[in-house]
Amino acid sequence: MTTRRHALALLAAAPFAPAACAQPLADPAAGWRDPGAGEADPRRFALAHAILAANPHNTQPWLVEFDGEDGMTLSCDLDRRLPFTDPLDRQITLGCGGFLELYALAASSRGLRAEVTAFPEGAPAGRLDARPLAHVRLIADAAAADPLFAAIVQRRTNRNPYAAAPPSEVALNAVLQASGADNALLTAWSEVETARVGQIRDLVWRAFDREMRTRGAQEETYNWLRLGREERARHRDGLFIDVPVPGLLRAIGMLDRDDLLNPESSANRQASAEWREKAMTAPAFMGLRSAEDAPATRLAAGRAYARMNLAATAAGLAIHPWSQALQEYEEMKDLYDEARALFGASGGETLQMLVRVGHAAPVEAAARRAMNDFIRNEAR
Ligand SMILES: Cc1cc2nc3c(=O)[nH]c(=O)nc-3n(C[C@H](O)[C@H](O)[C@H](O)COP(=O)(O)O)c2cc1C
Repeated sequence: MTTRRHALALLAAAPFAPAACAQPLADPAAGWRDPGAGEADPRRFALAHAILAANPHNTQPWLVEFDGEDGMTLSCDLDRRLPFTDPLDRQITLGCGGFLELYALAASSRGLRAEVTAFPEGAPAGRLDARPLAHVRLIADAAAADPLFAAIVQRRTNRNPYAAAPPSEVALNAVLQASGADNALLTAWSEVETARVGQIRDLVWRAFDREMRTRGAQEETYNWLRLGREERARHRDGLFIDVPVPGLLRAIGMLDRDDLLNPESSANRQASAEWREKAMTAPAFMGLRSAEDAPATRLAAGRAYARMNLAATAAGLAIHPWSQALQEYEEMKDLYDEARALFGASGGETLQMLVRVGHAAPVEAAARRAMNDFIRNEAR
């Protein structure tokens, strides 16, 4: 039986048997099955795929507006950011980059090339504002279909334990190459069977533990937890914890907020031990770093991460971002600095992504809201 568990820890520890429910609920994972089927407008077809992008806490912070015959403007839904753990909106911008990459890949499957203009009305100096992040035109110039398109519906963030056997260098190199991050602005790297793997394991664990002990971070995560299948189906976003009968557990005090936020509750200590084990057995890591951290660079990093995630999927590899040590909030500062030192980042160089990679049992698809929920206006 599931007992009281810590917010993020629940992600690891909850059972995956479907809970009994009184009435049938709309399937919040429906968007993964044949996305865009029957859509004549290629922009709607592309959008149906773009909303399947990885994004922080699955807040799905995308808003689109169609213009003319082939245009689409992407903005950020500013209420779906994570201001405590992502105070610069860096990670949310990466999630928007992922959206753009999947939009482009889906367009390529229809022979269309996506011409992306980042921050067409100018980039913000600080956090994101109401101005768009990108304008995209789909151009019919017989672009070749990108093979990564086929992996979009299979891609997942996999938080299961990973097998000890490391992924092959060949597979990892293929993923690095597919990311396209091999230039003056962005580089992708991997670590497997090196001493540094042990150092990264230790760092990601300590940063995870720090986040669990930081009240503001935990409260933020708590707001995006969807406890039980009914909550998940109602919101169709956030981080799903498959808690059976959450209403009953709440009523008898087994699922109260304070307990979920308390890192010292016995259930949290147990779940925390499971997360530690996942960190300490991670067979390999990959990551992305950039030469600077401008908003357009973050978008580019998000596009590169989307490609890494898809290429890993195509190679049969599980992948899971482990972002805590890269986050720019005060309580994380010493570990953030440690991460920069470990990876030799100096000046404006920025660690954009740090992910565990390996082999793991599959996980189910994360929820997505309905495609029309992301559209501010209808296509003409
Ligand atoms: C920039 C970025 C940072 C992320 N950081 C984490 C993380 O630290 N831990 C984690 O479990 N998942 C992380 N994720 C994965 C998201 O939580 C995941 O994409 C989201 O829940 C949707 O699930 P899906 O990728 O399976 O569709 C991150 C994703 C992005 C794009």
